[in-house]
Amino acid sequence: MDKAGIPVVTIDGPSGSGKGTISRALAERLGWHFLDSGALYRAVGLAASWADIDLNDDDALARCAAETSVQFVDRKGDDPLVFVNGVESSSDLRTELAGATASAIAAVPAVRAALVDKQRSFRQAPGLVADGRDMGTVIFPEAVIKVFLTASADERAERRYKQLKQKGFEVTLSTLLREILARDARDAERPVAPLKPASDAILIDTTGIGIDEVVDRVLAQVLANPY
Ligand code: C5P
Repeated sequence: MDKAGIPVVTIDGPSGSGKGTISRALAERLGWHFLDSGALYRAVGLAASWADIDLNDDDALARCAAETSVQFVDRKGDDPLVFVNGVESSSDLRTELAGATASAIAAVPAVRAALVDKQRSFRQAPGLVADGRDMGTVIFPEAVIKVFLTASADERAERRYKQLKQKGFEVTLSTLLREILARDARDAERPVAPLKPASDAILIDTTGIGIDEVVDRVLAQVLANPY
């Protein structure tokens, strides 16, 4: 089958909207592949910090994006392990600092361009669920179903707080809320691939809704759609 025949579902939205958990659950229910595109941007940010690259040096950042290798190793019932240039970096990638660095380098057009083919290479049979900010608008505009998730900033900060606490990180809710709002503003206001719903996206506000209900709603849309 050529790539054009392989269905893609895109799940975009701001940080803490439930994208990651929902996309992963959906991919599992469908038996499809999963792309965590945010992890690629986080990995480039981490590799750039290892190499002491100045975050204002667009050319060096773009080279770093093209050269950084990222591997996901699936684990049953747990988040995958992520290896950056061969180094197991799963915890380092999840910090808010890694998120903020990712958001800074993600605003550089040449960095985004360097990651396009890498992201599209995840489109493998029988299908792909792709999670990010521009999956439906830029990377997979031909996706069969495009979802844009939102949730109130307070609830997003609270979800993030629980997630990070569970993983053993020391964080405070008020700091997280501030960081999330700053990251959203930067992601939404950048000129290239800003965070916004595709014109044909299904908008779902996940405030006060359980993950399972959202997954069921999206799954019903996918199954009702001939692809
Ligand atoms: O989704 P996650 O929080 O891991 O993403 C980290 C950062 O990477 C986002 O704040 C955003 O700036 C950037 N990103 C992006 N485009 C994507 C995925 C993530 O710009 N498709």
